Amino acid sequence: MTTNAVSTSRHSSTPPEEATALLARMPDLEQALAFYHRHLAPDTAVDLSVAENVLVYDDSMQKMVFANTNLLPEKYIHYISPYGTPELRQQVADLLTEAFGPRVPAENVFGTAGVASALECLAFALKDSEPGGPPPLVDGDAVLIPAPYWQGFNWSFEQRPKLTCVPVNLPTDGPHAFQLTLELVRNQYEEHKKQTGRAPRLLVLTNPHNPLGVNYSKKLLEDIYAWALGDPDLHIISDEIYCHSQLNSSTTPFTSAVALDAYAEHPDRIHVVWGFAKDFGLSGFRTGFVISRNTVVQRAMLGSKDPGAEKRHPMSWFTPFDSLKHYVVGAVLSASVNGPGSELYTTYAMRTYRDLLSTSYDKVKARLKHNSIKYIHKDSDNTAQFFWLDLRDYLDLCVPPDQDNATPFPLTDPDLDPREQCLFDYLRAAPTEVSLLPGGVMHSPAPGFFRLCYTARQPGEVCEAIDKVGKALALLKSQA
Ligand SMILES: Cc1ncc(COP(=O)(O)O)c(C=O)c1O
Repeated sequence: MTTNAVSTSRHSSTPPEEATALLARMPDLEQALAFYHRHLAPDTAVDLSVAENVLVYDDSMQKMVFANTNLLPEKYIHYISPYGTPELRQQVADLLTEAFGPRVPAENVFGTAGVASALECLAFALKDSEPGGPPPLVDGDAVLIPAPYWQGFNWSFEQRPKLTCVPVNLPTDGPHAFQLTLELVRNQYEEHKKQTGRAPRLLVLTNPHNPLGVNYSKKLLEDIYAWALGDPDLHIISDEIYCHSQLNSSTTPFTSAVALDAYAEHPDRIHVVWGFAKDFGLSGFRTGFVISRNTVVQRAMLGSKDPGAEKRHPMSWFTPFDSLKHYVVGAVLSASVNGPGSELYTTYAMRTYRDLLSTSYDKVKARLKHNSIKYIHKDSDNTAQFFWLDLRDYLDLCVPPDQDNATPFPLTDPDLDPREQCLFDYLRAAPTEVSLLPGGVMHSPAPGFFRLCYTARQPGEVCEAIDKVGKALALLKSQA
């Protein structure tokens, strides 16, 4: 790798016809938007829809890690342990120990190609069982997920493992709007059991949450975990991919699942996932980790040739933490700030990231306020990388962009409320040209909410884009 191997250019050389054809078949609107902005509108429209993070890269990673990274050494062109070498697993375990609190043993950490893959591996793994443990999950089993939620859970759990995602809808109005409670989870669990005769087998919590950004309090987590694990067949997955994305002003600290009393009691049925895509902004590298001490999961991740049982190849073989990932992520994990023996770069980066995130959040929040754009958030809560905009006031005012202003590449989701789609199209069209992610994509229980990712660009650019959105929304009001 040369010094310039990781370029900041947004330019694409893919011919537009080819890019358009590829775009037309993409089922995930968030990924379609990422592709659209990369290949078809690289230098014009502003993409605040995709969960990306450029803050750490621009601030220090380029200077302190990649500028010092040499050409690929030969050892990285060979086969490598697909779930991570012992050294890499130890480095990740150390990093996660710092973030989670309790020690994370390296033997419980398994690398995969992205957190989406880590989640899929867990789903497949739990379709196996061991004597005395919970029965295996089977096709159609329900996965409870508080909604709105990251739509990728559907791809990870449903597409190949054939489980069924069941939303636990959060209230969208009132003093407890978008707040999770044990009661909501319990009611949906009971309701599902009543309707299908089968209890849900998995509960998935994202902490900090995407798209709401909040950290769940330790008390709430203990209550939910204690109740949920009272069902001996239920597993919990805690997606902690945003665990380092913490505001200085947040008064509810992040609590990892492994720091809960419930974990000490039921460590075999609590599984955590994390990756470098969000906190470190390395989304394109596709790195994910399963953290689990469950023997069925460990057997799936490591493979097995137990006598008398079916031979199993490690799950990560099919979705590997490959040698290139080892090389690049290894450089991030091994770098130190002032040469050998000084502070680890990762510790430094995640400490300064808090400040970068907090500064960016303050600027963007002020800009949203200035433009009278509503959002769901309490000042003392965390935001991870998002604002959950409440644009419901504009749903019935939206007029489709005229042909001159329409974007040349319509991006649609047949499941979206048509008014939400209209607002999305209107903001994406000239002269605004800002992409926000429609809440319907994220299973929002009501239309009119949009996710804005404020780490996708530098704060100045995000603020300019917000001014344009504010202007476009004000125009809709004035024309009503
Ligand atoms: C909550 C959550 N989990 C997992 C992922 C996917 O991570 P990866 O890109 O590592 O597969 C995302 C990406 O947006 C996410 O928001």
